[in-house]
Amino acid sequence: MRSWNLSQRGGVYVALLVLVLPVLCPSLFSPLGHASPSVFSEWNAPKPRHLSLLKGAVQRQISDEQKSELWSPLAPNGLKSCVSPANGPVVPKNTQGYIQVFLDGGLNQQRMGICDAVAVAKILNATLVIPHLEVNPVWKDSSSFEDIFDVDHFIDVLKDEIPIVRDLPEEYAWSTREYYAVAIRATRVKTAPVHASANWYLENVLPVLQSYGIAAIAPFSHRLAFDNVPEDIQRLRCKVNFQALIFVPHIRELGEALIKRLRYPVQPQSGADDEYIQTTVNKNINRGPGKFVALHLRFDKDMAAHSACDFGGGKAERLALAKYRQIIWQGRVLNSQFTDEELRSQGRCPLTPEEIGLLLASLGFDSQTRLYLASHKVYGGEARISSLRKLFPLMEDKKSLASEEELRKVEGKASLLAAVDYYVSMQSDVFISASPGNMHNAMVGHRTYENLKTIRPNMALLGQLFLNKSMDWYDFQQAVQDGHQNRQGQIRLRKTKQSIYTYPAPDCMCSR
Ligand SMILES: *[C@@H]1O[C@H](CO)[C@@H](O)[C@H](O)[C@H]1NC(C)=O
Ligand SMILES: *[C@@H]1O[C@H](CO)[C@@H](O)[C@H](O)[C@H]1NC(C)=O
Repeated sequence: MRSWNLSQRGGVYVALLVLVLPVLCPSLFSPLGHASPSVFSEWNAPKPRHLSLLKGAVQRQISDEQKSELWSPLAPNGLKSCVSPANGPVVPKNTQGYIQVFLDGGLNQQRMGICDAVAVAKILNATLVIPHLEVNPVWKDSSSFEDIFDVDHFIDVLKDEIPIVRDLPEEYAWSTREYYAVAIRATRVKTAPVHASANWYLENVLPVLQSYGIAAIAPFSHRLAFDNVPEDIQRLRCKVNFQALIFVPHIRELGEALIKRLRYPVQPQSGADDEYIQTTVNKNINRGPGKFVALHLRFDKDMAAHSACDFGGGKAERLALAKYRQIIWQGRVLNSQFTDEELRSQGRCPLTPEEIGLLLASLGFDSQTRLYLASHKVYGGEARISSLRKLFPLMEDKKSLASEEELRKVEGKASLLAAVDYYVSMQSDVFISASPGNMHNAMVGHRTYENLKTIRPNMALLGQLFLNKSMDWYDFQQAVQDGHQNRQGQIRLRKTKQSIYTYPAPDCMCSR
């Protein structure tokens, strides 16, 4: 078994804060260690944990009526987009100075930070400098804003709202990340509380702008409240998220190519002995564009270890995860006080690929369903995915759909790979996520805004069902369907404290 090098700890620890507790992440500008890639020598090939359900699922019969309901788009929700300001554009005549932000986290956390930065610039009548994206210590992607998002489009869509510049003018060129990393500086705002009010910015940042002409806010993630913010500012946040932020052309092109291959799968070479696939392909051609489900599957070692749940890899895996937990969190993982059974029945265990397969199968997705796996590395590798693949043999991902040549520009760049997954997932007929998190929330929000079908797994229900070893396929299927009737993308209005980026109604979506 592998022993962990202590020098990795700092980096991994910071990384996990980013992953698990983004709100508390104070890591900005601290020296970053190096997270080590996961090593898969520590488990025995994980076995299916729900064999009798799997057997039922493999033989599932789904009626045409059930299929057509499952794949049909959501009914119109009666809401319309209201992202533009009610009183027409108002660019401030006199800018109060420059706002700079430095954003931690992965792509989807940074996305929210960008929307909030535009909002704060508007609150202050300031000019926004294109946000700086920090390198995430786990994913180590140094892609800049310009590498991911279409800057011209961003500036153009927001030109009537706030002035935006790519770079600071010469006289402020000293205001760099390095400048703030080495000493305390008067122009750095470090104290923004989590979910600060608009007034907080007027009281604390405006004076800095007025004295120095510039304010650099870091940390900035989650630093603007969702409640009691003026309506025009809320709508501006929506406009940034849903209109101003689009990916660079090569990401969109790659995404389009993948979608096309999902919708119009190529005929296998003649002589292919897989009659089954052949039939499916022919059917799809006859039907016109095929439909597909995007499945976001985040099942990495950090998440598996942090959950403190048992994932069927036997004693070796349990020990490996416990050891990882001990080294990284040193006993601070709250979940480890509970037994696996307690955690499962509370819905606190991420669904394994096998479990998400059973969920999809019981909802009525048949074995000819095209599944796009939006995923990074899966802890346990192919062995962990095999049950899912058995239920959904037409499963694809970036690697299976694109050539090496096509992937060259995004290879090894976590943010760009995530952007491709985001793009493809937005175009899927149905989206489902195996675990809560930033990608899940971003998709739920964006797809709600576009009125697209999005299944939200009922984790507590599933946890309880999976614990019941005497449950047969028929009862399981019934219980899952009953428990997911209202979890397929129906509008849920944002409640106090909830994120406008996850629940865009009613702030970004108004009654007609
Ligand atoms: C920003 O501009 C608006 C409209 O010109 C004005 O009403 C508001 O007081 C300004 N706020 C600040 C902080 O400059
Ligand atoms: C397990 O499922 C069966 C139905 O398949 C049900 O009768 C039984 O009550 C369940 N057991 C528990 C502990 O929930």
